Amino acid sequence: MADIGVIGGSGFYSFLTDAETIELDTPFGAPSEPPVVGDLNGRQVAFIPRHGADHRFPPHRVNYRANLWALRELGVSQVLGPCAVGSLKPELTPGTFVVPDQYVDRTWGRGHTVYDVHPVVHTAAADPYCPVGRDTVIASGNVVPNGTMVVINGPRFSTRAESQWHAAQGWSVVGMTGAPEAAIARELALCYTSIAVVTDHDAGVETGGGVTQAEVFEAFKHSIERLQDLLKDVISQLPKPDADCSCHHALDGTAAAR
Ligand code: ADE
Repeated sequence: MADIGVIGGSGFYSFLTDAETIELDTPFGAPSEPPVVGDLNGRQVAFIPRHGADHRFPPHRVNYRANLWALRELGVSQVLGPCAVGSLKPELTPGTFVVPDQYVDRTWGRGHTVYDVHPVVHTAAADPYCPVGRDTVIASGNVVPNGTMVVINGPRFSTRAESQWHAAQGWSVVGMTGAPEAAIARELALCYTSIAVVTDHDAGVETGGGVTQAEVFEAFKHSIERLQDLLKDVISQLPKPDADCSCHHALDGTAAAR
């Protein structure tokens, strides 16, 4: 069993000691990969590579519901979701870590809820991220402490017009995986914190000339060590599993209350 979950790039496999792979199924099918549970700085952490170990799932094919369901089955209460993003503001340069406080979900056709039919459950999403997780990340690193992440469906990047429109809204960064991941975590009463790693200036940012996959992958590699250090620090600082959090009450008053 684990109390902290990480959904991230396959680079995190080496992260955990005494690691054990847990085969499990969920009502939504198999997670991207069987979770690996192991020790990190004295905490039990479950890790799932979001795109699969061999990066076979594009953002619109990731089984977000199964990944989060699997983590909850393992006892996880706090989820950290690092992801690569493009910048919509000139000052957010590649290598910057942003801790979003809001997202705009522009994805479609993804399994976006675990309450598809019955019971009818409406979860609050005004403040979509865990306040405790966000504070812990903000306190432990050199990060930009807020921002709005617009999540596009992908797998293509934005056109220049789309990107300029996103920037004109005042949004900070653009990614492809932050939704519905955060929403489903909330539906399962899990704490969820996003750590957005800027890899490029998106097409609309004045300084940007458009973005390519090669650029994103290369830039992410440059940030991975710093991201791992940040995650290690955050994991050791997160509250113990029995600590209460508003996220754990997300289902209070609904038909899914436990
Ligand atoms: N992930 C990394 N960079 C991105 C961009 N510019 N747009 C969407 N997703 C991204």
